[in-house]
Amino acid sequence: MTKKIVRHTVALLLLMLSFSNIYAQKTTVQNIDSRVEALLAKMTLDEKIGQLNQVPGDISTGTDVSKDDLLSRIRSAKIGSVLSHTNFQNKITMQRVAVNETRLGIPLVFGFDVIHGYKTIFPIPLAQAASWDMGLIERIERIAAEEASADGQNWTFAPMVDVTHDPRWGRIMEGAGEDTYLNSRVAEARVRGFQGDDLAAKNTVAACTKHFAAYGFVEAGKEYNTVDMSEQRLRETVLPPFKAAADAGSATFMNAFNVLNGVPASMDKNLITNILRGEWAWKGMVVSDWNSFGETIVHGAAENESDASAKCLAAGSDMDMAGGTFQKGLKKALESGRVTQAQIDEAVRRVLRFKFSLGLFDDPFRYLNQKRHDETLEKPEFRAVAREAAAKSMVLLKNDGGLLPLTEGSRFKKIAIIGPYADSKGNKDYMSFWTLGLGVRDYDSTKVVRPAQALKPALEKLGYEVKVTEICLDATCTEKDYSVAINAAREADIVIACVGERGIDCGENRSVTNLELPREQERILSIIGRLSKPTVMVLFNSRPLVFDWANQNIPAILVAWQPGFETGNALADVLTGKVNPSGKLPVTFPRSLGQVPIYYNHLSTGRPQQYPGEVWTSGYLDAPTTPAYPFGFGLSYTTFSYSNLKLAKSQYKMGETVEVSITVTNTGGLAGEEVVQCYTRDLTADISRPVKELKAFEKIKLNAGESRVVNFRLTEKDLSYWNHELKWKADPGKFKVFVGGNSVDVKEGEFELVR
Ligand code: NOJ
Repeated sequence: MTKKIVRHTVALLLLMLSFSNIYAQKTTVQNIDSRVEALLAKMTLDEKIGQLNQVPGDISTGTDVSKDDLLSRIRSAKIGSVLSHTNFQNKITMQRVAVNETRLGIPLVFGFDVIHGYKTIFPIPLAQAASWDMGLIERIERIAAEEASADGQNWTFAPMVDVTHDPRWGRIMEGAGEDTYLNSRVAEARVRGFQGDDLAAKNTVAACTKHFAAYGFVEAGKEYNTVDMSEQRLRETVLPPFKAAADAGSATFMNAFNVLNGVPASMDKNLITNILRGEWAWKGMVVSDWNSFGETIVHGAAENESDASAKCLAAGSDMDMAGGTFQKGLKKALESGRVTQAQIDEAVRRVLRFKFSLGLFDDPFRYLNQKRHDETLEKPEFRAVAREAAAKSMVLLKNDGGLLPLTEGSRFKKIAIIGPYADSKGNKDYMSFWTLGLGVRDYDSTKVVRPAQALKPALEKLGYEVKVTEICLDATCTEKDYSVAINAAREADIVIACVGERGIDCGENRSVTNLELPREQERILSIIGRLSKPTVMVLFNSRPLVFDWANQNIPAILVAWQPGFETGNALADVLTGKVNPSGKLPVTFPRSLGQVPIYYNHLSTGRPQQYPGEVWTSGYLDAPTTPAYPFGFGLSYTTFSYSNLKLAKSQYKMGETVEVSITVTNTGGLAGEEVVQCYTRDLTADISRPVKELKAFEKIKLNAGESRVVNFRLTEKDLSYWNHELKWKADPGKFKVFVGGNSVDVKEGEFELVR
């Protein structure tokens, strides 16, 4: 026995000596390149191709791939990275095999979709964007990174910065909505939160900005579909958030599944090599999306794996996620002269540099420390931020007659909480599919504070009598289910109806063709409406939904999104007025699906419609052109007024800063937060420009009766755009400036830009 241990120890020491030079030195920014070169010089072609290969661990987030034999493939240096692995001990084992049992001992890098929290689940990203609070978003990602890194993950596949105008697309929940500027600010905050200021620190993870590019514009909102758009729109609308993330230091980027103007994004040299690495001088590593190299064959843009490998590598993509395309085709592509050794080396270099920058060569187990793991995951203080985030994300759409908040001493005494999401224990309800850190099968619904669980005691404390009626309201519900809910409503003075979407209907592979509330939910709302009971509709949603009947008949509507672990507490905070709602929509809510795509920053037509039904103008016979709720909209329990919009001058020279100021006053009786939004319109450009473009915003807090002057400074860059020659420039001429609490209700001013 003792002899065996000695033999093992000696073998281990010898093995360690053989690659000790790659671990002996401490990584510094200066020595990474020389260490990468030294290591690269020792690698065989197979070892290099192995570094470009990423394989799934115990969770699949795409078409199934063989997970057999993971350890032996790591042992034979065929794997450089593992994604979507949840088991902590297994990660230690895998890393041990990579480091101790391969010739060069190159550590693995573990990637994971940390989309809105890892173990502590926060509101979905679209909801976070509705807070318009960049500091809060950064704090959320800091916590997500703390947890993920303590569980051995080095790298998150986030932020998704895809601007989209299509609520049918299930992934709308994963981004910051329809606006380029807001998406850019959120992208920076998320990258900062994940990466901190030191990628090698134990509590940070690398960001992966995705999906490069234009995935948010898939035709008909259908997942994995085609994108076709002008380069002008690509540069203007789609790319700026990617650029913002690159400038914020995002360590990696991910390809998109879609073709863009006929070219599969993974083999789009213009995007990856010319724009990302060329124009933007970004130095990081690009990973494919799940088998997106292999899917170039299905797109009909590559003949086989070696053709696909050659095209993707030549375009500038580096690592192959889950498809095994490089494993099957890259060597052949080299042998047939389709790629050069130098191209392969360049991709490997980027992967190694990435691993060095994470500190994995200094200590491959730095993220695999049991003590830190046990101490960090689900710390109680993380819950406090989840609660704050959920409450600040909620958007109050209607509050007729000041029905909310529900406070002490109200004339209403009895409250009925009803609806399918009043107290649901359904799979991932109040969350989303993208909560893989909780596992896929062994999901524990007790971690979520359900609405009724928190609302009932909170309201009872204020003197209300509360009855919770948990009813099924999906296609399986019976007349009996309806009557139970209706009786509960009949006996109450006020009804809180929790309706919307299931948590698992939210995320990848969850596109829909219908945005209406499920028929059964509409029906129950309308029956209760006929009882003339004041009703508060709480919507759990991952995308803009359509609820025209409710808009016309229900006095109070709160968009809660999918709020995460602290759903019930946050909802109680908002409904009782402990938190005054301050969320604003990051995306337009249409009146009907037929209006989609509908977004605030569209171009003017030659015949804009001034009022519903105006003939010979751009509109519909059967519906208004205006949305149900515009971008940037959201109410508070207090009210704000805007006055005295001032521009320092009426004429500015190119290069001068345009100074805008406005007075915002809290005209209600409560302290509250307001997102002051500043938009511009270029009235005389070379090409047609959007009717409004968000250029700046500031979230301010005002006590009742308090006023504040808010200042915005717009530079020439803010007034520039990509013109028809694809040049980035500002045109002289007239501009409008709009400031307000949403994209429609604004004060406006005008100035002229001169040479
Ligand atoms: C496919 C998704 O498009 C991407 O966003 C995700 O990060 C990967 N699968 C890994 O799960």
